Amino acid sequence: MMALIEFERLLKQAMGLSAATIGEVTLERALQERQQACGLPDLQAYWDRLQSSTAELQELIEALVVPETWFFRHGEAFSALVEVARKGTLRTVPGTPLRLLSLPCATGEEPYSMAMALLDAGFSAGQFHIDAVDISQRALGKARAACYGKHSFRSRDLGFRERYFEATGHGYRLIEPVRRLVQFRQGNLFSPLSFPQAASYELIFCRNLLIYFDRPTQEQAIAVLGQLLAPHGLLFVGHAETSLLTSQGFVPAQLSRAFAFHKAERTEQPPWPAPARTTRAAPAKPLLPPPPRQAAASRPASPPPSRPVPSPGLPRQAETELDAASRLADQGQFAAAARLCLAHLDTHGPSARVFHLLGLVNDASGDAAEAASFYRKALYLDPEHGEALIHLALLLEKQGHMDSAQRLHARARRLKSRTGG
Ligand SMILES: C[S@@+](CC[C@H](N)C(=O)[O-])C[C@H]1O[C@@H](n2cnc3c(N)ncnc32)[C@H](O)[C@@H]1O
Repeated sequence: MMALIEFERLLKQAMGLSAATIGEVTLERALQERQQACGLPDLQAYWDRLQSSTAELQELIEALVVPETWFFRHGEAFSALVEVARKGTLRTVPGTPLRLLSLPCATGEEPYSMAMALLDAGFSAGQFHIDAVDISQRALGKARAACYGKHSFRSRDLGFRERYFEATGHGYRLIEPVRRLVQFRQGNLFSPLSFPQAASYELIFCRNLLIYFDRPTQEQAIAVLGQLLAPHGLLFVGHAETSLLTSQGFVPAQLSRAFAFHKAERTEQPPWPAPARTTRAAPAKPLLPPPPRQAAASRPASPPPSRPVPSPGLPRQAETELDAASRLADQGQFAAAARLCLAHLDTHGPSARVFHLLGLVNDASGDAAEAASFYRKALYLDPEHGEALIHLALLLEKQGHMDSAQRLHARARRLKSRTGG
């Protein structure tokens, strides 16, 4: 009988995936599905097929990736992108287009959001270049087609949909002038062939990928991203991923709630004079008519002025903030509770407690996908977070994922009997 661990090793090698982050059940289910799709009698035969077929390895990867994304996901990052792009201090060679990378780009919402944010800010098509890379061919196919349903429009503010999309019978299609601003290609973060040029991007978004890796793989991934980043560039990560960066020679950029970092060893001043702060990118030839005036209100809000980063030694204050967020959630003030949690995350970094609370708030507000993702992040940081285990189990039960729910309940029971809690 072929051991699961061999498949886990193979996947880690192929794409960095740590099976623990997706769960053994998910892995087993994907393996069975692929084995059956290939018409093979057992996992040993499927293992042999994987050894000889890169096409089948890609199919297995497709079955395991989580291409969860939406437009202007954590919108502060896009406001921050515009803020730094306007300052003009990131470029390696002045006057050349700003180079941006979305890795992983999944089904395209992230890189297209970059393009729309820059267009809204008055940049013209020739002033920036966006590459978008993902390991999943299937996700890239959807990205290129650029037709999106309601799950891609989860941000509160949907003014961009009015400006840049056409309604189709089934959803919305991004208009062609914006589609052509993003160059999609398949690539693997861990394959040197995917990224032949070092130091080539001034802005890199690598959000919600590192959480699927174990620690050594995360370090390897950050080293690759560091090589791709230009000397004065900025790397944006997801909010569960920030602590990794600071331990790996990156320094938080003072951009509120954007989770952006630059290299610690950069020289203090860029090698060219920064344009005056008032300089604004002026479109040489507008790609699109300017957004209607009222649309300004529906753009992603500018971030509030960045607060000084407090020293990490403030546990009591941090706890008090989360107690206040908890109280607000208990009173049904979910938006206010979420805001406090996000501000807390920004100031004190990720913790299982804040993610669990964000899970509860999203759960109560009816956003099951976001809630599950926060519960998982809580469990990633603290696999023994009893409440997160139970809440995720209940959520999965509601969604009809009985097997996964039962496993989580069993884990919670084992934990309880061990700790006497
Ligand atoms: C959760 S999505 C993140 C999308 C987007 N960055 C966001 O935050 O909304 C994760 C994506 O990572 C991709 N992925 C997984 N392993 C990868 C690897 N080794 N190289 C490139 N992409 C990878 C998956 O195909 C999936 O589309």
